[in-house]
Parts: sequence; C-alpha cells; structure tokens
Amino acid sequence: MPLILGIETSCDETGAGLVRDGVLLGDALASSMDEHARFGGVVPEIAARAHLEALPSIVRAAFDRAGVGFADVDAVAVTAGPGLSTAVQVGLAAGKAYALALGVPLYGVHHLAGHAAVDVLDHGPLPQRCVALIVSGGHTSLLVLNDLVRDEIVHLGDTCDDAAGEAFDKVARLLGLPYPGGPAIDRAARDGDPRAIAFPRPLTGPRDAAYGFSFSGLKTAVARWVERHDGPLPVADVAASFQEAVADTLSRKAVAACRAHQADTLLMVGGVAANSRVRALTAQRCAEAGITLRVPAPRLCTDNGAMIAAVGDLLVRAGLPPSPLDIGMQPVVTLTRALIS
Ligand code: KG4
Ligand code: ZN
Repeated sequence: MPLILGIETSCDETGAGLVRDGVLLGDALASSMDEHARFGGVVPEIAARAHLEALPSIVRAAFDRAGVGFADVDAVAVTAGPGLSTAVQVGLAAGKAYALALGVPLYGVHHLAGHAAVDVLDHGPLPQRCVALIVSGGHTSLLVLNDLVRDEIVHLGDTCDDAAGEAFDKVARLLGLPYPGGPAIDRAARDGDPRAIAFPRPLTGPRDAAYGFSFSGLKTAVARWVERHDGPLPVADVAASFQEAVADTLSRKAVAACRAHQADTLLMVGGVAANSRVRALTAQRCAEAGITLRVPAPRLCTDNGAMIAAVGDLLVRAGLPPSPLDIGMQPVVTLTRALIS
C-alpha cells in the first residue's frame, strides 16, 4: 500500500503526517500561535517565517515517529489552499521540492477536504454518503459528501459573514481572553451558566436560510452586552452563554440537514469541532434523531499534517491523477473538489 507524506501550512500550524491505507503512522506539529498572541490574531508574515523555520524538523519528526524514511514515500500531499497566501506558499514549495527530489507524484489538496478526511484515521472509511459540518477559523459550511475525493461536494449552506471559529476568537478578545479564543472560551465556560444570558440564535427563524450561518450579529450582541454591563464582567457566564448559542445553532442546523437529506451520518470537523459543548450537544441531538455522529479526536480537529496525508491517501487509493508540479496556490477556493489541480 502506498505511503503518503502530508504537509500543512495554511495558517499558524506547521504539520507533517505519514499515512498508509487509512492508518496514521506518525505525525508532528509546530505552532506559531504564541508569536501571534500579542497581536490578537495570526500575522501572515510571522506565520510564513515560522513555517519556513519549523518545516524541515517537523517533517523529520513525523518520519521518526512513523519509523519510515524518505525512500518509503510514494506520494506527497500538500495544502494548496485555502489559507493565508504567505503561509500556503511555504508548504506548497516544500511539497513540490520533496515530490521532485523523491521522484513521486504531488497532490495539491483542499485544506477543508483534509479536515473531513482526517476522521478516516480515527473511525475508519467514510460512509458512501453523509452530511458534513465543517466549522473552522475561516469556514463554516454544511455539505453533502458522497465520495469525498471522487465526487463533487455539494454545499447546503455556508456562513454569510464570520466563521464559527472567528466568532470564538473575536468574543474571546472582547472578554480579555487569549488567542486562540476557542480553547480559552471552552475553558472559561466550564465555570459559567449557559442560560445566564439569552444571546440570539442567528438565522434560525422560519424564513431564514435553513442551512446558512451568520455569526457576526451574535458577536455584536455579545459586544453590546459587555458594553452595557456595569461592574466586574461575569466572564464565565458570558463565555458559556455565547458557546451555548453557537452549539445550539450549529447542531440544530446540522441535524435538520441530515433529516432533510436522508443522511444517517453527520461528520463534524474543523477546529470548532474540538469544542466540548459543541460536541456534547451535537452528540445528544444526533442520538435523539437516530443519526450517527462522527467527530475526530480533538487534536485532529484543529489543523495538522495528518489530515492532509489522510486526504492524499484517499486520492492515491482512488487512482486519481496528481497535480502538475507547477500548480499554483489558491488562497481563496470553495470546497467543491478535494484535489486542487
Ligand atoms: O480548523 P482550524 O484549526 O483552522 C482553520 O482551518 O481555520 O480552526 C481554528 C479555529 C480557531 O478559530 C479556534 O479558536 C477554534 O478553531 N477552536 C475552537 C476550539 N479549539 C479551536 N473553538 C471552540 N472551542 C475549542 N475548543
Ligand atoms: Zn483548518
């Protein structure tokens, strides 16, 4: 079975992973998160330099953990987009260099297809058809997946403004919590009451787009509440109430999409799928609706190299033709195909 080296550099995580036949042999990850914290968000130039510095040792660490060598690699998969162009560029150049030097094919892949494919490493082959909820720092989409790498991906709905993760990051900043905001809010919310403040559930009215999302109004509602509040800010209650609004909205729409599209499986992936309340509420609602919920382990929900190796492995096993070596990066590209060629 072919061995795939996967490389991810689309944002602030430098990841490498080695996958063979749906099995993760080893991976390694470095993050420049701490370098961005004082700016409250990812600085593209800092991210790019950090990737450049970290990538060779991260790739080597993945090989060491997997117990294989460069000569064993049969194909290289690399994120070609979407993402920060300065950051994607570094990984794509490295992927091309490895592919050329090793004399193996290169697969430029869609970052979000990697988020979906990574669940294969945790829970085995994907079903023939499922509804997928991708919730990350840059994207929020409800999709119908048939064969992830062979078929066109159908979008049921997307966010019309902020992504779910972006809302976590912005609300965290309002509350004086560190970047990245998602894990910080998740932690702060543990001591809070999710019913303390009734924040809006955006786009859940009868005339709203059933599978569309909007998080900018929710973020503004939190900002207004914080502005109007006198005295010490009840950070835990605000965090828990905001998190509840996001978890409620995401899980409600995802379950409705499964029902409407006769899908018996919901695949929930991306950084926000690491959120404890999003996971718990979605699991509860799926169980009530008789839907099988698949969510990767939290460490595989956020960006990593294994997910790119995982989608590369599916592409290679499906016998799809590789990307040309002069493939360009695509900083903005809708997920309709796993392969970017
Ligand atoms: O998928 P990801 O690692 O990168 C992108 O492709 O964007 O997602 C990062 C996003 C960030 O906005 C981060 O705050 C959020 O995922 N995130 C979380 C949690 N862990 C990461 N959001 C809520 N709860 C978490 N535990
Ligand atoms: Zn991501």
